[in-house]
Amino acid sequence: MPAAAEKPTVTPATDSIRFFDAQFQRQVLASDLKLNPFEEQALPYLHGRVLDYGCGLGNLAIAAARQGCSVVALDASRTAIEHLRQAAQAEALPIQASEADLRTHAVHEDFDAVVCIGLLMFFDCPTAFAQLRNLQAHVRPGGVAVINVLVDGTTYMDMFDPSAHCLFARDELPKRFGGWEILRCDFQDFPAPGEKVKAFVTIVARNPGERGAA
Ligand SMILES: C[S@@+](CC[C@H](N)C(=O)[O-])C[C@H]1O[C@@H](n2cnc3c(N)ncnc32)[C@H](O)[C@@H]1O
Repeated sequence: MPAAAEKPTVTPATDSIRFFDAQFQRQVLASDLKLNPFEEQALPYLHGRVLDYGCGLGNLAIAAARQGCSVVALDASRTAIEHLRQAAQAEALPIQASEADLRTHAVHEDFDAVVCIGLLMFFDCPTAFAQLRNLQAHVRPGGVAVINVLVDGTTYMDMFDPSAHCLFARDELPKRFGGWEILRCDFQDFPAPGEKVKAFVTIVARNPGERGAA
């Protein structure tokens, strides 16, 4: 299936969306398109029908499609979505890439794998938690969720919209995946400009079935 040529929706830009759109423009120009460490960790768990919620440049979507997945990839960055559509089209990969405001987006389909790397902390906490529940509800029984967020201990804040962001408590994701089979849960700190720190948690969890999400 070729990349969808949907009409872009208009997303009210936040500081975070502008920050990443500018970064993606530089990365596309420099052909800086490698998987980040969290995407590397996620890739082996992806199979079947995959949702990449906040896909950025789509490097993970492309890698997953190359290994046989069909991917729905969503992000608010027009630069990223246009790049991903072109890349998918060039290789005839089954990736449906669309611009969307993921604070309010409703998912209408169930997936074998739902990935959300580095997105939810850019929403206010009630929105982040509501969208996490929304994603959990659309993982098929036996399917996996891969969720990565910034946690308490992060001191680099330049990419945040001051009026709306959510640094997760360190135990927030494990708690919210109570009842799921936790395949891995990794805490990783990375140095950031100005001797600051970005502290992440990444959880990979399997939906055990009818018992479902907490
Ligand atoms: C840290 S990047 C992560 C991108 C990708 N998952 C990765 O691992 O490279 C954060 C992403 O969130 C997107 N984003 C931020 N706010 C958004 C919103 N309200 N709706 C949709 N995407 C948003 C940005 O455009 C950016 O692609």
